[in-house]
Amino acid sequence: MALRFFQTIPAVVLLILSIVGIILLVLPAKEVEAPPENMYGIVLDAGSSHTSMYIYKWPADKQNGTGIVTQHSECHAKGGGISSYAGVRGGAAESLKVCLEQAVKDIPKSRHHQTPLYLGATAGMRLLKAVNATESDQVLKEVKQKMRSYPFSFKEATILSGSAEGAYGWVTVNYLNENFAKYGFSGRWLHPGRETIGALDLGGASTQITFETSVKVEDSSEMMELTLYGQVYRVYTHSFLCYGQDQFLRRLTAHLIKTQGVNPQIYHPCYPKQFNMSIKLGKDVFNSPCTQSYRPAQFDPQMSVMVVGTGDYHSCQGNVKKIFSFDNCSYSKCSFDRVFQPSVRGRFMAFSAYFFTHKYISHLSNIPITSPSQMEAAIQLVCNMTISEMTEKTKQPEKYMKKVCAVSNFVQVLLTQGYGFNELSFPSISFQEKAGGASVGWALGYMLILSNMVPAESFVLMKALPSGPWAGILFLFITLLLFGVGYLLITIRNTRNKEGMV
Ligand SMILES: *[C@@H]1O[C@H](CO)[C@@H](O)[C@H](O)[C@H]1NC(C)=O
Ligand SMILES: *[C@@H]1O[C@H](CO)[C@@H](O)[C@H](O)[C@H]1NC(C)=O
Ligand SMILES: *[C@@H]1O[C@H](CO)[C@@H](O)[C@H](O)[C@H]1NC(C)=O
Repeated sequence: MALRFFQTIPAVVLLILSIVGIILLVLPAKEVEAPPENMYGIVLDAGSSHTSMYIYKWPADKQNGTGIVTQHSECHAKGGGISSYAGVRGGAAESLKVCLEQAVKDIPKSRHHQTPLYLGATAGMRLLKAVNATESDQVLKEVKQKMRSYPFSFKEATILSGSAEGAYGWVTVNYLNENFAKYGFSGRWLHPGRETIGALDLGGASTQITFETSVKVEDSSEMMELTLYGQVYRVYTHSFLCYGQDQFLRRLTAHLIKTQGVNPQIYHPCYPKQFNMSIKLGKDVFNSPCTQSYRPAQFDPQMSVMVVGTGDYHSCQGNVKKIFSFDNCSYSKCSFDRVFQPSVRGRFMAFSAYFFTHKYISHLSNIPITSPSQMEAAIQLVCNMTISEMTEKTKQPEKYMKKVCAVSNFVQVLLTQGYGFNELSFPSISFQEKAGGASVGWALGYMLILSNMVPAESFVLMKALPSGPWAGILFLFITLLLFGVGYLLITIRNTRNKEGMV
């Protein structure tokens, strides 16, 4: 009896397995949700000093809601910004090639034609347009032509206004922090009612400050009403042209030349000791609308001047303050240059050149910088360092380290005397390069606002297995079932025979 029981086990197991297999396959095949495919969007950030490309992605079925769009990849074009190719036929278009080629590889081919492609140019092109609109138009025309030659869906290539740049940066910051709205599990939009975060952006040719305010904005050109997810935000924004780090450095040099006279050698208190640099008066200093007011009546643009660093914090700070004008405010209050600004309030995120400046001075001084006094102490130490001490400690190239003392003094004056951050409000500034894996800048906000028209796609529904392999496996299980039945019958008959013999 025991023998017969054990001998039938394999046959029964085989039977059960095959029956379960058939039932699983034949029962109304449960629809399995395929992971949603991604959609992509490309933004070229054509800054004054260089062009960066950001590729974003989001699930094809939900393009709506915070935290859904993430950064897929980025690319930083070699060479200068597109405005630096003014008068160089084809130069600006060619400079985008490497990044656009990368986009072709980074985005699945099946998505290429649905991928919107944008280019936003900022203060570098604003300045070029002010100098020679024919040249800026030509650059934009060439760039558009190049973008159209790729398989993506070209949308626009345009020069952003300063306030648009500020507003898009603010949208990016608050989108990445999920401050706008959240898509709840109930399938409804939830408003978290969170305080928004202000945006501080420091580029090469301009700087932006943008934050939500409830006070009356006395200059209506600085007031924006943004309706996002059905909610209205009152936002103050101002973009200061010629207050980006590169144009600021030019203006500082121009100011020093103006005070010291057009000599073959000038002393620069913001450059490190033992650091000299040869510059051309035209190309490196006066060849910009930002330095027009410092321009000597007569000078030779080809003249070389040796800039000799003296690394003197107090003299540097004094000269940097001269670049700003803190007088003649015609409103109830101003930041500087007669620009109205309400008091800063709430949290802020400071990105782009703010982030790097903050990183370099805290690294070089070993001081964590969360207050104006800590910042001042750190800058004093940094301005006293030689260029080799700086490059050794940070392992960063000289081209970045030579300007840390100058730019950090500028940032200090801008944030404290300019925007009015004090010991109480400064700690609420967070210096960040990235948030949620995405670079913080205007590019993401720009795409989010402009790509509202990208059509949504529903879930792709399909069976767990396509019909070909599915039929094959069903056949296999039926064969297995027949074998099981046969095996069981043979085993039972054999054991009967044995028992009969006993
Ligand atoms: C995004 O969500 C808002 C709010 O539900 C809705 O009004 C809007 O049409 C949606 N946009 C897209 C492109 O689906
Ligand atoms: C602007 O640039 C174009 C092309 O380089 C040149 O022909 C023209 O004279 C320039 N105009 C001015 C006002 O400088
Ligand atoms: C820099 O300039 C100073 C002052 O003219 C000079 O003494 C020094 O030798 C120069 N150093 C270099 C590396 O050129």
